[in-house]
Amino acid sequence: MLNWIEKRTGFISMAQDFLTEDVPGGASYWYVFGSATLFTMMIQIVTGIFLTFFYAPSAMTAWESTRAIYLNPWTHFLISVHYWGASAMIALVFLHLLQVLIFGAYKSPRELQWVVGVLLLLVTLVLGLTGYLLPWDMDAYFASQVSLNITGLAPIAGPILQHIAQGGGSMGTATINRFFGLHVWLMPAALVALVGAHLAIFRHNGPAGPVVDDTRTLKPGRFWPDQFFMDGAFSLIIFGIICFLAIVSPPYLDQKADPTKFFVPYPAWYFLSLFGLLALVPPEIHLGPLSIGTELIATIIVPTIFLIVILLLPWLDRSKSRSIASRSGLLWGTTVVVGVIVVLSIYGQATTMIKQAAGPPSPPESVVLAPAAAAETKPGSPGAIPANAAGVANAAPSTTSGAGASVFANNCSSCHGATGQGVPGSFPPLANNPVVTGDPNKVIGIVLGGLNAPVTVNGQSYHGMMPPWKGTLTNKEIADVITYIRGSLGNNKASAVTEAQVAGYKP
Ligand code: HEC
Repeated sequence: MLNWIEKRTGFISMAQDFLTEDVPGGASYWYVFGSATLFTMMIQIVTGIFLTFFYAPSAMTAWESTRAIYLNPWTHFLISVHYWGASAMIALVFLHLLQVLIFGAYKSPRELQWVVGVLLLLVTLVLGLTGYLLPWDMDAYFASQVSLNITGLAPIAGPILQHIAQGGGSMGTATINRFFGLHVWLMPAALVALVGAHLAIFRHNGPAGPVVDDTRTLKPGRFWPDQFFMDGAFSLIIFGIICFLAIVSPPYLDQKADPTKFFVPYPAWYFLSLFGLLALVPPEIHLGPLSIGTELIATIIVPTIFLIVILLLPWLDRSKSRSIASRSGLLWGTTVVVGVIVVLSIYGQATTMIKQAAGPPSPPESVVLAPAAAAETKPGSPGAIPANAAGVANAAPSTTSGAGASVFANNCSSCHGATGQGVPGSFPPLANNPVVTGDPNKVIGIVLGGLNAPVTVNGQSYHGMMPPWKGTLTNKEIADVITYIRGSLGNNKASAVTEAQVAGYKP
């Protein structure tokens, strides 16, 4: 039987050839990271294919279909494995890169294998970035908005690239379709092609082996069975960890993306160091008459230079020797760079957590997945009032302020607080605020047109962005909500505002 297949395909001798590959110096657990990366890639492809059976890419369905995936225990496990598999794959790519760096395995004749490897790292990161958007919840939306805006900062091609990736001037169905196409087609295809090249070059040169200058002293080893066993054992352990995390700590789905709400996005952990760098630098540096926007430096220039240095490493470090002692400069440099990345990540994590604590809290997942959450997108429906604001709605005395209370709960409470108490430092309180109870025409103007000027309320100053509501809310809703905030929040007892007043508003 085997003979029959071998005669017609040559598969058996190919497999034999593959398995009997030489491993100079014998098998070692040092070499397992590459194969484990390959293994997690396969997990991602398999779980990813199954996820496309359940996911529907459009602004109307992305979040809804993701929610359905979360509600079924099987698909919930599937998406959780995909989520943790992504983290594992990126972590393993980094470890693999570090191992190659420490062993000096990028040196001649393996320069191109290194370059292809760095490209693989990039493709993996783009996969992480594009996948992050697809659930289309609050975090997905606002974190992707950050990365799209950063793309737009790039000199020359930036704005056009942002326009293409976004599929127009703002984020919506076209953005989901672009990211979906990149995530399930273009990037996986590039990944598989590059992995093929990476392995073909690897077979051509053979493994680099341990760090010794004279390879003739090494006793030869074989891939089968020792190295194969070590690779397999390590991959199995990784698989176990991924499944364990998928069960005990599945990813969190937030409420559906809503651009009018305020949200502090949390980046994927592998982008935390860039967030940290961005948070660290002052917005502008002044050099005499020159002022330089540091956003560009932190988000584009530094990462690009870093990438070029890594890509060109085999040519920058031209010494023939791979020994640890003779490369101490490079190894110390690597240690420092890794240290800086870790510190920046911790800083990025800390600043994001502080900002998030100041912003409106996300609801627990049980609330997001509860049946009422599905009605969330229909303003005015009874299920649309979040639990924390329901008390306010019930306490409201008259019917008009009842309607106003529900408009407030749906549109304003996420920033100004359920009882209009505000968020210190971020959002001004509307309760006991003299501007709110003052000239009604001024309040109408603010709600219709938004506000982006520093304001001071009871001695506290605020400078944020209040979105304009003209067009989003009807004149009646605006009149109701203003009546509500002027008459029912805190000790506010000011006059009602009518629909005609809103319609006839003149600045
Ligand atoms: C995305 C967050 C956000 C949402 C949602 C929001 N606001 Fe605001 N609002 C702000 C910020 C920030 C300010 C302060 C603006 C500034 O500093 O320039 C503000 C200011 C105001 C002010 C002026 C307060 C003053 O002291 O000058 C009023 C009135 C107001 N908002 C009413 C509303 C109403 C009514 C709604 C719902 C229809 C609403 N806001 C929804 C963020 C928000």
